[in-house]
Order: sequence, then C-alpha cells, then structure tokens
Amino acid sequence: MNHASDVLRLAVLGSGRGSNLQSILDAIDAGTLRARVVCVIADVESAYILTRARQRGIPAHHVDGSPFRTKLEGRAEAEVLRLLEQHATEVVALAGFMRIVKPGLLAAFPNRILNIHPALLPAFPGAESWSQALNYGAKVAGCTVHLVDAGTDTGPIIIQRSVPILEGDTPQTLHARIQEQEHLAFPEALELVARKRLRIDGRRVRILPPQGV
Ligand code: GRF
Repeated sequence: MNHASDVLRLAVLGSGRGSNLQSILDAIDAGTLRARVVCVIADVESAYILTRARQRGIPAHHVDGSPFRTKLEGRAEAEVLRLLEQHATEVVALAGFMRIVKPGLLAAFPNRILNIHPALLPAFPGAESWSQALNYGAKVAGCTVHLVDAGTDTGPIIIQRSVPILEGDTPQTLHARIQEQEHLAFPEALELVARKRLRIDGRRVRILPPQGV
C-alpha cells in the first residue's frame, strides 16, 4: 500500500551534473525509495541537473546566489525558502550543491537536510575530496551521507560506503568509483528518512529496524 502521506516530498539542490538526482529518480522508479521529487533548484543556470529535472517534468528553478560565491544567504536564501515552501517540501537533499547553507535554511528544516559528500568523513571535508584522499596517500576512500548542520561537512553521519584506492588511480577514476557508491547510499539514506527509521542522539544516528516485518 502506498498512501500519499507515505511518500516523502523531497527537494533536490545541486550545482552540476545531477547524477545523484538521477540515482534518486531511478530508486523512486524501482520502488526502493518512496519519495517524490517536488522540485530541483540549482545555483548554476546551465547545470545539467536542471535539464534532467525538466526532462522528467519536475519543476526546475535557477536561483542566482550572488553576491555570495560559496554560501546561500540573503536574497538567494529567501528565494530558495520560498520555493521549498511553495512545493510543500518535507526534506531537502543536497546533491552536489556547492554552497554552504546558512542558519535561515537550517532553522526551516531542522535535521531535514541531507548532504552527500565524496569522502569518509571526518577525513577530507571540503572541495575535491577524492583528490585530497589521493594526494594524502590514503588506501581507502568513499562517501558519506550526513545531516547538515552549521559546519562544513560536519553533521551527524547516516551512511558511509567505502571503496579501495588503487595503484594508478587518477582523480577521475577514483571519483567515478566513489560516485557508484554515492548512487546507492543517497537513495538508501533518504528511504530511511522517509520510513522514519532514524533516531538522532547528539552526533550518533541510530537506524531502527523496518516496521511491519
Ligand atoms: C558528488 O561527488 C557529490 O558527492 C559532491 O558533488 C558531486 C555531485 O555529483 N558533493 P552529481 O552532480 O550528483 O553528479
């Protein structure tokens, strides 16, 4: 049974290619994620994530983040909040969104904003973390889905998946291997949210067993 109220109303924010949006849509199609993407918002007008959304008939919005370059604040934050409200958003997924979200958005969606980060946090926060891992000489890399808090890639961890770093890896080959895991981890974490299976206790996120089994 799939009551309308069981379906999580999800907004996806991104800045780039949108392969994580695609994995979310594929999981919805496969029935493994009971959610509906109610809108996609990008701060880059030409971002392919907007094209993917439009091809699916999902409302796709560009919000200009200026005058800021690395954060979502002021007029742009207000516009994003207006759009999220307009689409009756319950949860926000940051899927390659290259801006730091600030207290206005965090307060509107407490523990309701998830981010996918291409590293095993707390190692290698920030940009191009696959290159950071490679240059550091790490032997294992991966991805993290976490709740967003006021820091940069510091929020409570929901799911992590690891990959090996291989001899001869380049930033591109390693990032591609990590992205394969991102595309599994993000829909899985969102399904846990949709099924209300997360209990947040400070930094620790407990995953409850599925109901009705
Ligand atoms: C991913 O590697 C994600 O972890 C990072 O930005 C990238 C976005 O990729 N935050 P895509 O736009 O979903 O293809």
